[in-house]
Amino acid sequence: MWGGRFSEGPAAVMREINASIPFDKRLWREDIAGSRAHAAMLGAAGIVSPDDAAAIDAGLATVGQEYDADGVTVDLALEDIHMATEQRLAQLIGPAAGRLHTARSRNDQVATDFKLWVRSAIDAVLAGLAGLQAALVMRAEEHADSVMPGFTHLQVAQPVTLGHHLMAYYEMIGRDRSRFADAKARANLSPLGSAALAGTGFPIDRDATAAALGFDGPTANSLDSVSDRDFAMDYLMAATTCAVHLSRLSEEFVIWASQPFGFVALSDAWSTGSSIMPQKRNPDAAELVRGHSGRIAGCMMALTMTMKGLPLAYSKDMQDDKPPVFEAHDLLALSIAAMTGMVESVTFRTERMRAAAEAGYSTATDLADWLVRVADVPFREAHHITGQAVRLAETTGCALDQIPIDALKAIDPRIDKRVYDALSVDASVAARVSHGGTAPVRVREAVARAKEALAL
Ligand code: ARG
Repeated sequence: MWGGRFSEGPAAVMREINASIPFDKRLWREDIAGSRAHAAMLGAAGIVSPDDAAAIDAGLATVGQEYDADGVTVDLALEDIHMATEQRLAQLIGPAAGRLHTARSRNDQVATDFKLWVRSAIDAVLAGLAGLQAALVMRAEEHADSVMPGFTHLQVAQPVTLGHHLMAYYEMIGRDRSRFADAKARANLSPLGSAALAGTGFPIDRDATAAALGFDGPTANSLDSVSDRDFAMDYLMAATTCAVHLSRLSEEFVIWASQPFGFVALSDAWSTGSSIMPQKRNPDAAELVRGHSGRIAGCMMALTMTMKGLPLAYSKDMQDDKPPVFEAHDLLALSIAAMTGMVESVTFRTERMRAAAEAGYSTATDLADWLVRVADVPFREAHHITGQAVRLAETTGCALDQIPIDALKAIDPRIDKRVYDALSVDASVAARVSHGGTAPVRVREAVARAKEALAL
């Protein structure tokens, strides 16, 4: 493609380090689409003849069909998908193929292709995340009343409803969707026609190519256009945050599936056995989603470090933008699908959850709140009184609501029998009706809103 100036071919290792076709072949659809939009514009603007534009368009369609049927052949001599496509086009239509690259460079071409690819990747992620949210909402609806221990420091804190816990993840995934949608909206301007870095003297129509490719319009500055990879970094940062959320839910499944907890039983389809220990049922999918989050964060860091300190405009370092995005996307798509399957199929052992909530003095705050509400005790004092009750329960080995009334009165005479109504885990969750609280009535409202938002 630049034989005019060179008398020798590249060294073998040069060829290998230079080639991106082993990975950027994945951009073939976008490359064909971008080139067809460019060729149509060149024809409409009179920059190439109508006949040549038509021949180029038909040839590109054929190359696309070939790629679709047979895949892209990796030939390192052709360096990247852009050169491979152009070379095949030349074989198919002859010298007219040489007119396609008028008023264009691989620098604006690759930026365009990659933006188009990231845009579709975001659409796929958004659809996957909506599916995960739907799974969470359906399970939350089923368990709006199921009581489990809520934790802080992984110590039993206060009873919550399982539905409320699952809806917490619905919220996180909702923010992820908004981050991805935001990344897509910001990215949706076309770099095509920025040429190598400075724009072009040909009378091109950037609005036309932008519209043909579904962009909102052309980018404003040619130097920025060919050196901007913010859209890929935005994708990776949104992916990292999302993967962190998935890893937190994974970790909960791993803990909940352990024998001492026994809060969940993973289905056969989403767990594995051991080759030596017949009793084992391992939460491998959850562990791998948790593990993948680290790799996704690594991809985000890889591209961030590649871009750091690059002067304008294009530098070949930027060719390294694609592997981390492809890797992160594959890992994320798989993680979302696996998490959706686990959420849909997991069995929640609600009797174990309830017993754990009852075992951990989780309603101690309810005793303190009762003293404040009914006996007008200042909260700090109520906290102290309750602490003595917990100590008594601990030393006698009983639950809070099993302490006899005389023993409670001995701690503080303002306590009377009505206190027992506040000490059950059901009473505790039912009382927490504040906006965003865990009460079943609030969970049902949140579920109803979510179902409407997801059109379920
Ligand atoms: N394969 C290159 C990439 O992925 C295409 C752009 C090459 N441009 C250049 N001037 N060498 O970034």
